Amino acid sequence: MADLTTTFTGLRFLNPFLLSSAPPTESESNIMRAFEAGWGGVVTKTIGLHPVVNVAGPKTKFLRADPDSHRLSMKKRPAAALHSSWNWELISDKTLDWWVPRLSRIKDAFPQQILVASIMAGSGNDTELKHWQTLATACQDAGCDALELNLSCPHMDREDMGSNIGKDRELVSIVTKVVKEVARVPVWAKLTPSTTDIVVEGRGALLGGADAISSSNTFTSLPLVDPETLEFEINVDGLVSTGGLGGPAILPLSLAKMSQLTQAFPDESFSGIGGISTFDHALNYFLLGCGTVQVCTAAMLDHAVGPNVIRELKAGLARFLEAHGDDGWRCVSDFVGLRRNRVVAQSRIRRPDEKEYHGGREAEGYADGDDL
Ligand SMILES: Cc1cc2nc3c(=O)[nH]c(=O)nc-3n(C[C@H](O)[C@H](O)[C@H](O)COP(=O)(O)O)c2cc1C
Repeated sequence: MADLTTTFTGLRFLNPFLLSSAPPTESESNIMRAFEAGWGGVVTKTIGLHPVVNVAGPKTKFLRADPDSHRLSMKKRPAAALHSSWNWELISDKTLDWWVPRLSRIKDAFPQQILVASIMAGSGNDTELKHWQTLATACQDAGCDALELNLSCPHMDREDMGSNIGKDRELVSIVTKVVKEVARVPVWAKLTPSTTDIVVEGRGALLGGADAISSSNTFTSLPLVDPETLEFEINVDGLVSTGGLGGPAILPLSLAKMSQLTQAFPDESFSGIGGISTFDHALNYFLLGCGTVQVCTAAMLDHAVGPNVIRELKAGLARFLEAHGDDGWRCVSDFVGLRRNRVVAQSRIRRPDEKEYHGGREAEGYADGDDL
């Protein structure tokens, strides 16, 4: 029997596969079903202090590609392949008081599986920062094994919330530090991919004391316009705002962000998110240096909590470990990070002939930087 267990930020996981913070983890019954199905951990739908109200109409839709044409559309039709999820859902519409007894019941029912509370508040003043501490204390007192800071929700109007925190390295650092002051459990910082250099914000989180970085949240995006009606495929009264792209389309994008992070901080802990539905996808994150991975879109499309997805992930890891027994790989940590250093600058990639590459400078015919 392959050993699927792993230790991440000091916590023992039955397997390295988690449901990420999203609809699959929005209720007690969903989380209980997810644990029954075998997920090693779940990150709750993000919990805030104030009730939120979502838009009228659907909060998530799925963009699909036709097999025999270039058509991309959210319209349901046979044989189309999933391209991505698109959502503009806010954080949990349930209050902290609603969550606390449920978190305790979940942890009592499934003591072996890892329950992570995702939390979010503002950061504009000391009162807002105190809200982070209130949320953190309540969730850990209810039995949560870790906290994940939502510094990455892409649909916040407020300048001091969600991905607007994640775009500001100082705020990332301050919020992480404030939570660390009261945390007795590991703190993971979930970063936004919507910045120029995620290493900058990653450093902010680590300086604030984060025990791990989770990446990515969804990528800022718009739904497509229906060429017949000229309406956005998801809209309310004809209006749309930017939302978040998830699912297969973001796998390579999210991997690029993760590669930057794991190379910059090879000794730190990372939880990889974005576009995972099979073990082959998850393997990319492990090889780049992630100790755990998280799944959302694929689980949403599989009975809401992904029973078949987790079965395949576990079976895939077991098969992989068996196939690599001769390499001496007994568990996930034996191959985490093995391909981290294979991502290099263009100038280090071999050229077909002797002519050297000069990083886009004069020798290739481009103007030298000094001449610009
Ligand atoms: C409908 C929906 C709601 C989400 N809500 C949250 C949330 O409350 N907190 C959070 O940190 N991430 C949230 N996410 C982001 C996911 O946790 C995940 O980071 C993202 O979807 C990428 O993973 P995927 O490609 O497996 O979907 C949400 C995603 C979707 C699709």
